Amino acid sequence: MNSKTFKFCCKDTDFFGYMQIFLYFCSKFCNKMTLEEYISLHTSPENEGLEAITRDTHVHILNPHMLSGHVQGRVLSMLSHMIRPKRILELGTFTGYSALCLAEGLAEGGRLITIEHNDELEETIQRNIAKSPLSNRIELIIGDAVERVNELRNEGVNEFDLVFIDADKREYCAYLEAVYPLVPVGGFILADNTLWDGHIIDPAYDKDKQTLGLRAFNDKLKEDDRFEQVILPLRDGLTLIRKVK
Ligand SMILES: C[S@@+](CC[C@H](N)C(=O)[O-])C[C@H]1O[C@@H](n2cnc3c(N)ncnc32)[C@H](O)[C@@H]1O
Repeated sequence: MNSKTFKFCCKDTDFFGYMQIFLYFCSKFCNKMTLEEYISLHTSPENEGLEAITRDTHVHILNPHMLSGHVQGRVLSMLSHMIRPKRILELGTFTGYSALCLAEGLAEGGRLITIEHNDELEETIQRNIAKSPLSNRIELIIGDAVERVNELRNEGVNEFDLVFIDADKREYCAYLEAVYPLVPVGGFILADNTLWDGHIIDPAYDKDKQTLGLRAFNDKLKEDDRFEQVILPLRDGLTLIRKVK
């Protein structure tokens, strides 16, 4: 952190903010790494293509924090390798990072479809995918996730053995219902951001629509015997769901 960044961090900072900055400098002074840094250092690195997407997204795209990132990307890749899906469906592409991570585990001849509603990202996504050796196995669909999933169903495209939900947080319940018929019993659904930076249990966010959407999703899963699920406290919360009925 240079002095300019320090000044920026101090702007509008409350007591706890100052404490965090103070602790940050203490840990740097003592040369102590954070657990996050340790985990990242001891996790297999992302490939050069993914590294370039991360860099490019941070330089050119608004809200770059939405990208899954190194450790979560490796988790997605690992889960996909464990499942070896023939077909993957992703809701919420952003710049293509997670799609490329998930595609790494596709079975021989397998394909991934990813849906993104922001058409301003289309060129970036296509460029990022095109640079990957997996490009011919990934299809981007621009449009609203629920609408496009319903269209896929009407066109007879079915059976996704792995689905990654990572689009509009207010719509997670609708996404679950939309993809349910497309996942075979025994298939998996992953849902990102299900702890929402801790807001999920913070009464200060009781009126925040995204928090309410995610709470409704977590509560729905808890009550719904069609699924088994576990929330991993990874990054912003990643829920692993298995369709059992
Ligand atoms: C958190 S980002 C996805 C990050 C990406 N999966 C990754 O890990 O790199 C969420 C994305 O969902 C898209 N999105 C939001 N609402 C959507 C909708 N209704 N249908 C499709 N995509 C949507 C946003 O434009 C954004 O690009």
